[in-house]
Amino acid sequence: MEYSTMKLERVDGGAICWVRISRPRVLNALDWTVLRELEAAFTQLRSEAALRVVLLTGEGKAFVAGADIATMQPMDAAQGLEFGRYGSAVFRAIERFPVPVIAVVNGYALGGGCELAMACDFRYASTKAVFAQPEVGLGITPGYAGTQRLPRLIGRGMAAEMLYTARMVKADEALRIGLVNRVVEPEELENEALATARLIAGKAPIAIRRVKEALNQGLEVDFDSANEIESLQFSLCFTTHDQKEAMEAFLQKREARLENK
Ligand code: COA
Repeated sequence: MEYSTMKLERVDGGAICWVRISRPRVLNALDWTVLRELEAAFTQLRSEAALRVVLLTGEGKAFVAGADIATMQPMDAAQGLEFGRYGSAVFRAIERFPVPVIAVVNGYALGGGCELAMACDFRYASTKAVFAQPEVGLGITPGYAGTQRLPRLIGRGMAAEMLYTARMVKADEALRIGLVNRVVEPEELENEALATARLIAGKAPIAIRRVKEALNQGLEVDFDSANEIESLQFSLCFTTHDQKEAMEAFLQKREARLENK
């Protein structure tokens, strides 16, 4: 498929795919086209059997500087509901995407950009990254689950402060409060993310998918139910070739030959 606001770049034989949001004239702001293309890109990637990790980033000086303010300015409540629900559904699909998605935050991650980064499994940032939920300065609330994912990620108090003040949080503070996992110099960011993607891609693919499902589903239910979800995912791994092979390889002190089956 041809995209006008996105570039897909596969590396390592399609095991890893960069998704680069590219609408640099407006700092990659999310309008209907970007949201639709994000959905289409992840739908397309879902069917690629070799895929192990997605790296999501922005082109230019921003990751994503938010939902498109020019698109939103004339909206009425019904249109706002449609725009919010659609973006939220796209982000939810990214959160539930079967393989890990890493946000590679190269610059501004504001509003919808911060929310998009939070829908990913984890975030690496360059020293130039800036995070904020500036919505209250524009007379709105966050619309893509910022009020929900931010407190779950960094705790209620820090989230409330960010949401009420719209304050810009630089990379070093984002690291300290747990919004990002790692901060590196801009020129090192992509290699750092790629190295981690390769670590993930080298592990048993079915186990990784099952870990992601257990992690996502378990966080939404009570602890006993979450434990049960994990037990089920754990048990299903024993039906795979890779479990038998990886454990045999360990016992025979040799490299495992993982086959994604
Ligand atoms: N929606 C629509 N357009 C946006 C945008 C957004 N969220 N963020 C940036 N742009 C546009 C600007 O209007 C500008 O367009 P222009 O060249 O036609 O004037 C262009 O992107 C470049 O942005 P500019 O403001 O000139 O860059 P800057 O480096 O001076 O400032 C920001 C960068 C990110 C601080 C500033 O653009 C900003 O505050 N953006 C809005 C962020 C926001 O509130 N997002 C949440 C939306 S809910």
